[in-house]
Parts: sequence; C-alpha cells; structure tokens
Amino acid sequence: MSSQGNVVGSAIPGLVGRRHAAAWAAAALALMAAAYPLAAVHAADAKPTKIGIIGTGKIGGTLATLWAKAGYSLMLSSRHPGELKSLAKSLGRNVEVGTPRAAAAFGDVVLISVPYGALPQVGHDLAHELHGKVVLDTGNPYPQRDGSMAEDARRKGTGVASAEYLPGVRLVRAFNAISYKDLASQSHRSGEPIAIPLAGDDPQALAVAQRLVRDAGFEPVVVGGLAQARLFDVGTPVYVKLLTAPELRQELGLTGGAAPHKAASSH
Ligand SMILES: NC(=O)c1ccc[n+]([C@@H]2O[C@H](COP(=O)([O-])OP(=O)(O)OC[C@H]3O[C@@H](n4cnc5c(N)ncnc54)[C@H](OP(=O)(O)O)[C@@H]3O)[C@@H](O)[C@H]2O)c1
Repeated sequence: MSSQGNVVGSAIPGLVGRRHAAAWAAAALALMAAAYPLAAVHAADAKPTKIGIIGTGKIGGTLATLWAKAGYSLMLSSRHPGELKSLAKSLGRNVEVGTPRAAAAFGDVVLISVPYGALPQVGHDLAHELHGKVVLDTGNPYPQRDGSMAEDARRKGTGVASAEYLPGVRLVRAFNAISYKDLASQSHRSGEPIAIPLAGDDPQALAVAQRLVRDAGFEPVVVGGLAQARLFDVGTPVYVKLLTAPELRQELGLTGGAAPHKAASSH
C-alpha cells in the first residue's frame, strides 16, 4: 500500500535507491514492526485484527457492537470491568472485557471515547500502552461538562488539542460528528451510506480508520490533517448532520480532495 510506503520512506530517508527492492521491503517491514505496534494490521487492506475500546459508553458501546458484528476481536473496557460482562457476552466470543490499561495494551487500534475532560488523564496514564498505536478519538469538548480545558480545545480545534493530550500516538479524529443513535440506526442503511468525516496526519492510520468506518457501515471522508478536524467540530454546519459523502464534501468545499490548510485556519 502506497501510504505505508510513504510512512516508512519518510522514516528512513535516503534508503530508497541504495538497496535492492526486496531488501528495501524487508528492511521497511522490520523497521515498521519495531517502530509501530501494527504488525497485526493486515497490510493489504488496512484491517486491524484487535481493537481496544476505552470508554464503552454510548458511542464506544455502539461501535463495539458494529465492529463485533463485522468480525473484529475486541476488548471493551471500563474502570469497573465487571459491569461490561453481559454486553461482552452478548457480542460473542471475540469480545472480552478488561481495564482501560488492558484494552490499550490489547488493541492494534484503540478507540478512545471518553468525556473530553478525561482525555488528559487517559493520555498520561496510558502513554506507554498507547505509544505508536493508531488511536481513534471521538471526544467532543463541552465546557459545562469538561471545564475550562474544553474552551481551550474549542479554540485550538480538537485535532490539535487531542494530539497534545495523546502524544506519541497515531491519532485520527473519527465518529465525533454523529450521534450514537444515528450510529446505531444508520449503519449499513440502504441507499447511499452516511459519511463519517476523518482527520489525521498519519496516512497509514487514516487508512486503518477508513476501513473501520466502512466496516461499521458508513462512508469515510478524509477532511485533512489534524488541524482540519475543526471543520467538523461541535457547532460547525456539518456537526451531527446526516450527510452522504458527496453532500459532506460539498458542505466542506472538498471538491478536489482534503481541505486546504487555509480553510482550517480561517474557521
Ligand atoms: N453521545 C453521543 O451521541 C456522542 C456523539 C459523538 C461524540 N461523542 C463524544 O464521545 C465521547 C464519549 O461520549 P459518550 O456519549 O459515549 O459518553 P458516555 O456514554 O458517558 O461514555 C463514556 C465512557 O467513558 C468512560 N470514562 C469516563 N471517564 C473515564 C476515565 N477517566 N478513564 C477511562 N474511562 C473513562 C466511562 O466508562 P466507565 O465509567 O465504565 O469507566 C464511560 O462509559 C464524549 O467525548 C462525547 O462528547 C458523543
């Protein structure tokens, strides 16, 4: 996959052209395996095998249900794991339960779906387990719930703010602009699928996120890098609107691809 090539190629500049292609591929894979715990992400289709879920509430629990149906192995987590046992059991034998730390360690990909105010603590406490992993962040900052850090995040844009709280991860903003009810009812709907906007700076992480969006029954639309995540933050015209991919692209002015950087800075 070309995006993987880009990631690895940029990690070891100058290597391409000095080695035979096969040796290059072997070196690249070895480097990637060492640098990123993505060995279990299927290279051909960006399909991860194991997903850890931190915050198995309305959004996390709904996505867990959709991904379990799609055949993924999951670890649901809670600070009170016993409370999730019956949900896990209902989702089948590929679904287990653990603590947030265990779920962070378990996943090739980790979904973080907690109140935004908890993000700094999750990022700090689980930094070791999350390091280098693809992380999907659904959180939305609400000052009345999350305090003054939410005002800061709204000013900066959530892509920029979340990256500060989750250093060292391969972050993608995902599933923050759809309500959990629509997530449940619109999955794999008939006709054109509903779009899920994504933003991230890491091409391989975006490829994984796109796969997970499709397998949840929606159509991914990559809006741009993390700085562009603000284009689908709380309060934007596209936030919690049910739009198809062409409609979302039109609303965001994404005619020829992802959003230009100036679009984000002018918002
Ligand atoms: N609800 C929606 O329709 C919707 C839509 C889009 C985005 N969002 C955003 O997505 C995030 C999750 O929303 P939600 O509605 O799913 O929330 P929720 O139902 O309240 O679930 C949040 C989960 O986070 C866990 N949690 C809370 N504090 C934690 C901490 N310090 N460490 C680890 N886990 C913690 C809780 O699990 P335990 O108490 O079991 O540990 C809880 O189950 C929020 O930021 C929200 O703004 C929500």
